[in-house]
Amino acid sequence: MKVLVATEKPFAAVAVEGIKDVILDAGYVLEVLEKYTDKSQLLDAVQDADALIVRSDKVDAEVLDAAKQLKIVVRAGAGYDNVDLEAATAHGVCVENTPGQNSNAVAELVFGMAVMAVRNMYNGTSGTELKDKSLGIHAFGQVGRNVARIAKGFGMAVSALDPYCPDEVMTEAGVTPVHDIKSLYADNKIVSLHIPATAETRGSVGYDLVTLMPKGGVLVNTARKEVIDEEGLMKALRERTDLKYVADVRPDRADEMEAEFAGRVFFTPKKMGAQTSEANINAGIAAARQVVAFLKDGIDRFRVNK
Ligand code: 3PG
Repeated sequence: MKVLVATEKPFAAVAVEGIKDVILDAGYVLEVLEKYTDKSQLLDAVQDADALIVRSDKVDAEVLDAAKQLKIVVRAGAGYDNVDLEAATAHGVCVENTPGQNSNAVAELVFGMAVMAVRNMYNGTSGTELKDKSLGIHAFGQVGRNVARIAKGFGMAVSALDPYCPDEVMTEAGVTPVHDIKSLYADNKIVSLHIPATAETRGSVGYDLVTLMPKGGVLVNTARKEVIDEEGLMKALRERTDLKYVADVRPDRADEMEAEFAGRVFFTPKKMGAQTSEANINAGIAAARQVVAFLKDGIDRFRVNK
C-alpha cells in the first residue's frame, strides 16, 4: 500500500518524520511530494497511491480520475472545501478531515492579527488595547472556541453566533450567544470569522454587515477568502475610513485593497494560520493514523462525504 503526502505548502520536517513513523509502522510505503509547482506532478504521483494526505491542495475530479487505486483522502486540517466530495463519492473514495488538530494555531494568529490592527499595523502611532473591548466570534467551532479561551486572557467581552451550536456550549465557555447576525456585527469592535466556505456562506460577509460595525471596528478573517464579498467589503472600507480588515487569506483583489486602503488592511502572503510545528505534527500525525485505521480496520469516524 502506498500513502502519498502531497503538500504544495509543506508540513514542518518534524511532522513529516512523525507521519513517516506511523505509515512505516503499519507496513506501508510513504511518498512525499512537497512544494509541487504543477498539477501534473500530483497527477503522476497519485496514480498508484492507495491513500492521499493533503492540506489545502486541490483534489478535484481530474486528480481522482488519475488515482486509480485511491481509497481515502485525508485533509490534514479543518476545511475541506479543496476536495470535490461528490467526485470522491462517485469514485468510491472516503474523504476525512482532522477537526481540531490545528485550531489553536489559527486561534493564536487571530490575536496576532487583531493586536496588529489595533496598534495601527505597528506604524509607530498610538493605538488601542484589546482589554475590555467586545469580540464577536462568527461560528463557534473548534477555532472559535479556542479564540474565546484566549480572548478571556485579554480581558475581552466575548459573544458568538453559530446556528449549529447549542447556546449551552457557549455559555459554559463564558460566551454570550447571539442569534441575529446583524447584532454580531453591530455590537462588536472586533469580529473574527470562522465560518467554512460552503454554498451557504460564500460571499456572505460584505457591505451590509461590515458597515454595521462600530467606530474603529476590525474584521479578522482567518477562515476563507471566499466567504467575503470583496466588492462589498471594498465599498464599506471606502465609506467607513475608520474600519480595518486583516486576513490570513489573501483576497483576490488584495493588490487593489493594499493600494486603496494602505495602513488599514493586512494580508499574509500565504495562509499562515496552521503553519506551526505543533499544528503540523497534530494534524499530520492524526491524518496518518486515520489513513491506517481506515485501510486496516475500515474505521471512518471522520468521514465528511457520503
Ligand atoms: C484548515 O482548514 O485546516 C486551515 O485553513 C489550514 O489550512 P492549511 O493546512 O492549508 O494551512
